[in-house]
Amino acid sequence: MKLLTIITLQAALSGVSAAPAPNDCLVKQRSKLKSCNGFSVDTGTSNNLAFLHAECLGYDDKGGKWTKVETGIDLNKCLANVDGHLNGRKNGNFKVHCDNVYVALDSASGVVNLTANCVGPLLKRQTSIDLGQFVTVDNGGLVCFGQN
Ligand SMILES: *[C@@H]1O[C@H](CO)[C@@H](O)[C@H](O)[C@H]1NC(C)=O
Repeated sequence: MKLLTIITLQAALSGVSAAPAPNDCLVKQRSKLKSCNGFSVDTGTSNNLAFLHAECLGYDDKGGKWTKVETGIDLNKCLANVDGHLNGRKNGNFKVHCDNVYVALDSASGVVNLTANCVGPLLKRQTSIDLGQFVTVDNGGLVCFGQN
């Protein structure tokens, strides 16, 4: 009886009692992206630009310590628009069919939430995706699908 109470309490505290076990790989990638802050998306004046900027931790070999590195990646290498939904896809070139692109970091959950209005079957619709699903950090640089 006592044990059951403890288990129930733990489940309630973690807030994920009914959810499946988190994907370890995804959790790792998110925590890697968590080493970054100052996220912004530069869409410039060009129709096809969506460049993600961030400050991440990179290892400085000379200094022998971790330091903040300014880094970025062209999100066209990482995202596709599929019928008005953003999907992680190598060289998906999403920006041709999307606008009003912005990024927001939810520091509590570690979700790096990219939002855009994308062409769907009928109208443009607002859609969001957690970049931590496929954007990760390698030595302070942002990488998706093996590209930076
Ligand atoms: C992502 O941003 C959209 C638009 O602001 C919001 O509706 C959605 O709840 C956010 N998702 C997460 C996981 O923060």
